[in-house]
Order: sequence, then structure tokens, then C-alpha cells
Amino acid sequence: MKKSVEDYIRSIPDFPEPGIIFRDITSVLQDADGLQMAIDAMQAFINPEEVDVIAGTESRGFLFGAPIAYNLHKPFVLIRKKGKLPCATISKKYDLEYGTAEIEIHKDAIKPGQRVVIIDDLLATGGTLAACNALIEELGGVVAKNVFLIELAGLNGRKKLEGYDVKSVVCYE
Ligand code: PRP
Ligand code: ADE
Repeated sequence: MKKSVEDYIRSIPDFPEPGIIFRDITSVLQDADGLQMAIDAMQAFINPEEVDVIAGTESRGFLFGAPIAYNLHKPFVLIRKKGKLPCATISKKYDLEYGTAEIEIHKDAIKPGQRVVIIDDLLATGGTLAACNALIEELGGVVAKNVFLIELAGLNGRKKLEGYDVKSVVCYE
């Protein structure tokens, strides 16, 4: 039987902490079919005529965001962990399933009114994407969509992203 993208995701119990089931995407990327299926399925949520910019979140969001931007012939914007971007930035702190973090974006990365799709590998608590959406809006951009390969529905990330158009390819309860 033909495999689906879900078949390529590995689940690792108790990583990086006891009680967390880590949904590993390296096993998706390591397979040529898995990689292509993942990119194609995420890209299928996006109408290129309704989008100006694709943004990706460090680091796993880059792996999926850049190929999608390339395929759709759109600019790709990096939302990075604090301290990595060289020019003027704005930043936001947020909580994760395990720990806290701070992300930032170049001030000149988004022009007012641009419609932005943000790509990430995984939706857990929604803290990362809520912070990303806030950064895009602070720069005057319009968040068109949040697209994920994986959604951990039990962590209620969608609640934190209420009002946004959230799409995911594979959903775990
Ligand atoms: C992971 C994942 C998402 C985020 C999801 O990234 O890639 O970006 O956590 O969690 P949330 O919905 O609870 O915010 P992480 O910060 O671990 O960075 P990485 O991609 O560099 O591994
Ligand atoms: N990022 C946050 N929670 C995660 C999980 N359970 N698996 C993989 N990446 C994650």
C-alpha cells in the first residue's frame, strides 16, 4: 500500500523530558518520498495569489518554509531565535511545551499590508506561532495562514491561535 506522510513521522517517548512524546521529522526528511509528500501537502493549503511572503520559524520551520517559498516563487522571511539576526529587529518572548524562548524578525522583512503565511513543522501549545503572528502584525503585515506539518491537538495550540487560519497535515490527539 502507498505510504502517507504520517508513516514517516517517528514518535520517541520521554524526549527531551519524561512525559513528552517527541514527534520526529528527521525520519520524514531522510526519505525522498517523505520529504516530497510533506512539502506538497503543506503547500497545497496555500493559494499563491493570496500570499505575498512565506515566513518560517527557526529551526525546523526553515526546512519546510524555504522549499515552499521556492516552489511558489515567493520571498522567504526568517523568524529566528533571539540574537542571530544582524540588522534592526523586533522580538517577543513566549512559553514552549518545555521551557521558554524569544524570537525576532528583521524590521524591514515585512512591508505594511503584505500577506504572510507562516510555516512551522509542529503546533504544540501554540506559543511560538502566537509570537510569530504578533511580530508580523507589529510590522504591519497581515497573517494569511499558519501552516504546520504536525499538530498536537491535545495541547490546544489552536485555542492560542484563535482567529487565525490554521492548517495542519497530520494531527495527533
Ligand atoms: C518546536 C517546533 C515549533 C515549536 C512548537 O521548536 O519546531 O516551532 O517548538 O511549540 P509550541 O506550539 O508549543 O510553541 P523549538 O523551539 O523546539 O525549536 P527547533 O525547531 O529549533 O527545534
Ligand atoms: N516541539 C514541541 N513539542 C514537541 C513534540 N512533542 N515533538 C516534537 N517537537 C516538539
